[in-house]
Formats: sequence, structure tokens, C-alpha cells
Amino acid sequence: MAGLNEKADLIVTGRRLVTPEGVRAGRVVIGGGRILAVGDAPVPADAGVPVVDAGDDYVLPGLIDSHVHFRTPGLTHKEDWAHGGRAAVAGGVTTVMDMPNTVPPTFTEQDVLDKAAMVDGQSLVDFRFHIGVDPQRPQELKHLDPAIATSAKIFMAGHHTAPAVLNDPDALATAFEAAAASGTRLVLHAEDGRLFDLLDGWWGEPDGYRDYEARRPRSGGITAVAAVIELVRRYGTAAHILHLSSAEEADLVCAAAAAGLPVTFEVTGHHLSFTDHDTCRTGARTRLSPAIRGRRDQDRLWEAVRHDQVATLGSDHAPHTVAEKTRSVAQSPPGLPGVQELAVAVWTGMRRRFPGEPADDAVRRLVRHLGSGPADLFGLTGKGRLAVGADADLVFFAPEQTWMLSAAQVRSKCGWSAYEGWTMGGRVRRTYRRGALVWDAETEVFGAPDGRWVR
Ligand code: DOR
Ligand code: ZN
Repeated sequence: MAGLNEKADLIVTGRRLVTPEGVRAGRVVIGGGRILAVGDAPVPADAGVPVVDAGDDYVLPGLIDSHVHFRTPGLTHKEDWAHGGRAAVAGGVTTVMDMPNTVPPTFTEQDVLDKAAMVDGQSLVDFRFHIGVDPQRPQELKHLDPAIATSAKIFMAGHHTAPAVLNDPDALATAFEAAAASGTRLVLHAEDGRLFDLLDGWWGEPDGYRDYEARRPRSGGITAVAAVIELVRRYGTAAHILHLSSAEEADLVCAAAAAGLPVTFEVTGHHLSFTDHDTCRTGARTRLSPAIRGRRDQDRLWEAVRHDQVATLGSDHAPHTVAEKTRSVAQSPPGLPGVQELAVAVWTGMRRRFPGEPADDAVRRLVRHLGSGPADLFGLTGKGRLAVGADADLVFFAPEQTWMLSAAQVRSKCGWSAYEGWTMGGRVRRTYRRGALVWDAETEVFGAPDGRWVR
């Protein structure tokens, strides 16, 4: 077995290791922050290697959230890497991919390097950055160095925290062509901002959340997704549609993928957990962009999860302060925190939706969508799998432990959660990142913020 010449410094034993081949009993031998062996490998003879027993917990690979807004630089009153990293590990996430809509935005390679320098020494989790596409300079993607970023974010519709919108058809075509040339994957907020401007001009200021979905309707998402598919067809650009929200969009992307186009999609925990009924009831707390839609759409998104049509699940962790969220309907920014809640909320939903499914199958699916799926899509080498040679990112997950989420448990700097009062049906008990214990739910102790850039 590879890597066994390295000295072991930790051994994890358990009855339910979630490996790519299946759920099995055995041990994970760890040394130098990496996995040296998985399975029945004998415990190395050199005594003194600590052994931790996970018992009946599932032992998952550290999860990947490929869609967070950790708000550095410029918006650190909402979130910062110290808090965001703690929220992540408490939710079983050990690697995040951070979005570029900061102040200033992360548009250039130098901006990415500057951000990496700011994050250094602050983060409990490993990380990578999606670079932003400057609407004034979409052609710059052509020369993007993959050591800096392998993916670039485009907002086709904007709002309070996303002012740099790229929806001019010629500029979009330029971006797709340039991204294809450099082999960059585009990640897209695919809604038609121009349609929304039309509706805003027609209707004027909103006065309640009852009509939020009507002002940011599915038609905006469907037309934008259709436009993206056409550009993918024309240029061959790899495109990943973020926070897909409607049944029609899911059908369109599935059809395009089945026809061989390199287009994939993400579903968020929020779109799986809430409906427009919640937005009517709770207002800004469950307002996000794209809007959370109706029951039929939620059912379709769950179907996409169940049938492995999604490439990734993401949190779209987008914290805003309570003060910002309690502004008037027009002034309150869309977005809610979620990196801490993502895995447990999805797990809870899965078990309720598909009660007949064996837990081992469900947990393997969870690990596909939050582990190997994002790792493969974004080339996060060493992440997302419990396998020899991988980073020793491990999560002890108690699949039947129920608990109620309260604001006191929220680690995000924003201090609130749309899931407050929810009874969760599974708990993250421990999180290891590159062999180091970074979260223990029993003692509520975190590890050291020495997360690394996964380049
Ligand atoms: O609801 C959202 N909030 N959607 C986005 O696209 C951005 C995010 C934010 O940055 O607050
Ligand atoms: Zn987002």
C-alpha cells in the first residue's frame, strides 16, 4: 500500500468507515497529515501511536463546500475566516471554495494572492478561491493561471452584495470564449438581471415578501440557463450553474448534459430545506437570490439529489447581520448563512424524504455530493475521499443523534440561522483536518487556524 513507509501518528478505528468502495469496519492509519492506509491494515508495530475509536459513528471524509462567501476583504462585519472556519468544521466541512464578491472584488490574479495572504493564519479549513470575472474585462480569463484559480464566477443578475453584473450578450460570449481557451470552469449565478430590471421598473418598490418570488421569477432563471447552455454549445466552455432553483432549469441542464455538453449544476441546502412559503412567513431570513421557490421545485431538486444529477451540493453561505436583514424589504440583502448547517440539514431531509433508503446508501450519496463530486469537478487533489494518499480530513458523524439547532450554537459571525428551532437528525461529533482535531462537539474545542490554500 502506498505511503506506508511514512510513520503513523494517529489511528482511527470504527465500524462504519465511508470509503469509495462502500461502508466498512476497519481503521484509518494517519501520518504526516495524510491517510497511509484504510481497511484492515495492521496497526504499526511501533507502540505509542494513539488510537481513537469512532464506534458506531460514520467516519466520512472531510466535506467540501464549494460555495461560501467568507466576506474578506471589505465585508468582515458580516463574516470573517476565523468565524467562517469554525462554522465549517462544526458542520463537518474541511475545505471551502470562497466567492469573489468582496470589497474590492476578487477580479485579478493579484487580488487572489492578496486574499490568500489575508486568510493565511486565520482559517481552520483548507480553501481555494473562485476568481471573479470583471464585466469590463471578460477577455482576461484567457490568460488565467490555473495555479491561481481553476474556476471563475459570473453574476448574470445582481443585488446588494453582488454589484458587478455581467449580462451583456457580447461580453458573456467573450467570457465563455476566453474561459474555454484557458480551460477555466465558469461558475454562474444564472438569472437574467435585465428581466428583473424590467419587472422592478414596472412594479416599483416591493412592500412585502409575499411577492418576492414574483419579482425574481423562475422565468429569469430559465432564460439565463438556456443562454448558458447555448454558449456552452458554441464555445465548449465547462460551466457549473450555481444554486439552481427551479424544476425547469434542472430539466434543461440534465438534457444538455445528456447531450454531451460540459454543463453541471449545484443545489443548495437552503433550496432543499425551505420553500417560498417559508419566505412569506419569515421574510428576509429565507430570502436569497435566486429566490427559494415552490414545493414542486423543491421536489424536483430532491429528485436531482436522489438520482445523482447534481454535481455538487453547496451552502451558498452568505451571512448578513441581523440589522441588515431587518431593513426594509427593498434594502434587506438576500443571503443566509449555511456552511455549518449544510450537511446535517441535507442528511435530515434525505432521511425524511426517502425513509426506505438504507442509511449506508444515503451516506454514500451525501459523501458523493459533498466530497468526491466537488473534488473531481474542481480538481481538489487529496480531498473528498477516505482513501490512501488523501489528506487525513475525517468527520465522525452520528447519523441518528437528534438535536435542536439554536442561535447559541451558530458559529458564523452573523450569529443567526434560518434553521433555528429545527430538529436535526444527525450530528457532527468530531472533525479532523490533515490529521489534526479541529472540532470536538463534546468539549466544544477548536483546533489551530492553519488551513492551507489547495493549489
Ligand atoms: O442570496 C445571495 N447572496 N445570492 C448571491 O448570489 C450572493 C449572496 C451574497 O453575497 O450575499
Ligand atoms: Zn453565492
